Amino acid sequence: MKVLLTGGVGYVGSHTAVELLNNGIEIIVVDDLSNSDKKVIESIKSITGKDFKFYKIDYKDREKLEKVFEENQIDAVVNFAGYKAVGESVRKPNNLMPYIVRVASGKLKELSVFGNDYNTHDGTGVRDYIHVVDLANGHVKAIKKLNKSGMHIYNLGTGKGYSVLDIIKTFEETTGKKVKYKFAPRREGDIDIYYANPDKAKRELDWEAKRNLKDICRDSWNYMVKNTEE
Ligand SMILES: NC(=O)c1ccc[n+]([C@@H]2O[C@H](COP(=O)([O-])OP(=O)(O)OC[C@H]3O[C@@H](n4cnc5c(N)ncnc54)[C@H](O)[C@@H]3O)[C@@H](O)[C@H]2O)c1
Repeated sequence: MKVLLTGGVGYVGSHTAVELLNNGIEIIVVDDLSNSDKKVIESIKSITGKDFKFYKIDYKDREKLEKVFEENQIDAVVNFAGYKAVGESVRKPNNLMPYIVRVASGKLKELSVFGNDYNTHDGTGVRDYIHVVDLANGHVKAIKKLNKSGMHIYNLGTGKGYSVLDIIKTFEETTGKKVKYKFAPRREGDIDIYYANPDKAKRELDWEAKRNLKDICRDSWNYMVKNTEE
């Protein structure tokens, strides 16, 4: 089976590339490197010991993308090529971890915690956090299930919610780094609690998240340290 991975050099894409290759699935990577480094391609190859074709193109360039399909027998496409504008990231609570990492490393002065009067155990918003490798494996399992016709939607999450303060505390305990924060007003559109129900993915894909919050904190920090040093 051959999978076209768009945005395959980025954060989620590169982890998914490794998991697909480790599962014996061939990949073709398309990325314009607008938010990633070519060095990651070599890292994927050296981690897995496998080779793959890479096209440095913008996937919105229809002609060039059609050529990729002509040159390769593609069975499935996984798309992770997307921009995360800063404004959008700030609004989206599931992007908390990159901010925590940047504050801990001194790149940002402090973290703004939006709202501390929500109906939760400590007043801050509760969300579902998933490890990038669990997310990547969920995609591998979904790809393997492709023989099923129709449209299928799966939630990939842990089914557990953690508050912003839970995350900060676990991050500090796991990494030994301090995360300075201040409370800021609630953001429009945010709700008290939401987390995924991953039962369908467990039932139909035999997938479940295996890594916990400490793993997420430790590995996010290590990833930043490694990719800043190199
Ligand atoms: N990382 C997270 O915590 C997270 C959480 C929720 C959702 N997401 C979503 O998942 C997707 C991937 O996130 P990520 O963290 O891996 O981001 P990333 O920026 O690390 O990866 C995106 C990759 O796509 C490439 N790209 C962007 N536009 C392209 C284009 N037009 N043509 C070809 N390549 C292009 C970039 O160069 C980059 O390598 C995004 O849509 C993001 O919003 C990420």
